[in-house]
Amino acid sequence: MTRTLRLVPVLAALLLAVPVVHAAGNAAAGKKKAVVCFACHGENGNSLDGQYPRLGGQYPGYIVQALKEYKDGQRHNPIMVGFARTLTAQDREDIAAYFAAQKPALWTLRGEISGSGKRQGTSL
Ligand code: HEC
Repeated sequence: MTRTLRLVPVLAALLLAVPVVHAAGNAAAGKKKAVVCFACHGENGNSLDGQYPRLGGQYPGYIVQALKEYKDGQRHNPIMVGFARTLTAQDREDIAAYFAAQKPALWTLRGEISGSGKRQGTSL
């Protein structure tokens, strides 16, 4: 009995912690929402054009944060601010989940850019 009672504060703390856990985005929903992004960032988030940052395999938290910062004016980019303003918090989570789930191409930068898709070295 005493043992059970001692567990009560622990369980209460766990329950209180639950809402703090980030709601994970839905990658399937994110793919639909991200169609507009593909023109620049590529469908798999790995644009071959160096002026567009690669998003494939990026940490979802990074993508969410970057999009928030464009929206809030902490990051300034005339192109991205326009897109970021249209997104809700759920959109950001879903889109981030989609791009994060894509295979990152950075480790194969040379191979990807030359189109072979094969790793051709370790240094970038
Ligand atoms: C017309 C081209 C274009 C479109 C469309 C576009 N972006 Fe971008 N995006 C850019 C450019 C250019 C940058 C780099 C901006 C900078 O230097 O801050 C960027 C930067 C970003 C970054 C920051 C990447 C980093 O490494 O810091 C994220 C995240 C991002 N875009 C997500 C999106 C999402 C999500 C969409 C669709 C809702 C989208 N973009 C649509 C051109 C575009």
